[in-house]
Amino acid sequence: MSKKALITGITGQDGSYLAEHLLDLGYEVHGLVRRVALEDPERRFGRIAHLLDKVILHAANLDSYASIFHVISRHDFDECYHLAAQSFVAESFIDGFSTMSTNINGTHYMLAALRELRPGCRFYFAGSSEMFGRVQEVPQKETTPLHPRSPYGISKVAGFHLTRNYREAYGMFCVSGILFNHEGPRRGFEFVTRKITSTVARIKLGLASELRLGNLEARRDWGHAADYVRAMHLMLQQPVADDYVVATGETHSVREFCELAFAEAGLDYRDYVKIDEQFCRPAEVDLLIGDASKAIRELGWQHTCTFPELVREMVRADLKTEAERAGVREYLSAGS
Ligand code: NAP
Ligand code: GDD
Repeated sequence: MSKKALITGITGQDGSYLAEHLLDLGYEVHGLVRRVALEDPERRFGRIAHLLDKVILHAANLDSYASIFHVISRHDFDECYHLAAQSFVAESFIDGFSTMSTNINGTHYMLAALRELRPGCRFYFAGSSEMFGRVQEVPQKETTPLHPRSPYGISKVAGFHLTRNYREAYGMFCVSGILFNHEGPRRGFEFVTRKITSTVARIKLGLASELRLGNLEARRDWGHAADYVRAMHLMLQQPVADDYVVATGETHSVREFCELAFAEAGLDYRDYVKIDEQFCRPAEVDLLIGDASKAIRELGWQHTCTFPELVREMVRADLKTEAERAGVREYLSAGS
């Protein structure tokens, strides 16, 4: 009998990679999607178009306990990966109320419905290095005190505590992965890495002339999403529920990302990048670098993709996509 997994946020970057990974492992994969997505599959299922005949989708919304309860009541899930969230930090400063409501209540609804209907189902919560915010220690690990700097970060701290509370209060197998930034060719265009690589491609093809960014000195520990979803699965296979940092242990600035990405296309970033205050945040997270030694030791997890490989893969993929759109033959064979 194959295991049944429910993924919330299956249409997102991580959800799509995780669905592929679990299918490869022989799981029956279910996804929770918003009804609007079912109404417009062409546009909203871009990342999972190739999986649509292999996964089972259910309509529900994180804002509705009843819709979540209904989905969970219909199948005896073994594992639940709760990835759905308003995940863009900048947006959380614009509408902190929606971010808090979706992220905190959505997590609470998932936990409460599982407790009621499937207390034996193992639960993964998508925690974040954004919880460390103004960092109290370098590098950051599981025991580093939390100091979130955005409504998004605060919502993730609340989700992290809720997850731990369900573990301690009700004995459920509930874990949080504290994942540092992870990217790839499926990353949303609003995040800085994809904004950079997609604009590099457009500049190279003569479709754009500049790239407007905020703080170039912010530093992040950037890994590849395909590596990180393996860690999520491993966390749910452990004998005892626990929380884990997942990171590469390297940090790079937004400026360094620009330098490499433009160089990959044979360009100098200094000729194209312009600073635009509208992309600066009211409170910034200046430095993130993770210590994943617990995950390496206890889960046997390792990242495989290096920073230059990540940048190269993203630039090549965007060059290919943009070239296809523009009908330019030269770049059609590059990238994945
Ligand atoms: P993403 O690409 O933005 O995907 C977010 C997913 O959440 C989408 O499938 C989205 O559905 C869904 N969603 C949002 N609001 C919803 C709602 N009200 N009801 C139902 N579904 C909703 O994010 P990601 O990069 O894959 O990240 C996955 C999770 O990991 C998120 O919780 C994020 O906060 C967390 N995380 C990400 C990183 C990272 O670097 N990527 C690092 C640490 C933690 P639609 O397609 O319908 O919008
Ligand atoms: N998005 C964006 N756009 N960020 C910019 C820009 C810009 O034009 N210019 C500079 N930055 C800086 C941001 O200020 C931030 O310091 C850094 O680039 C990374 O921004 P994002 O790519 O938007 O990611 P994030 O670090 O805020 O959040 C991501 O990682 C978290 C884990 O640490 C998201 O995936 C979160 O969901 C995730 O939890």
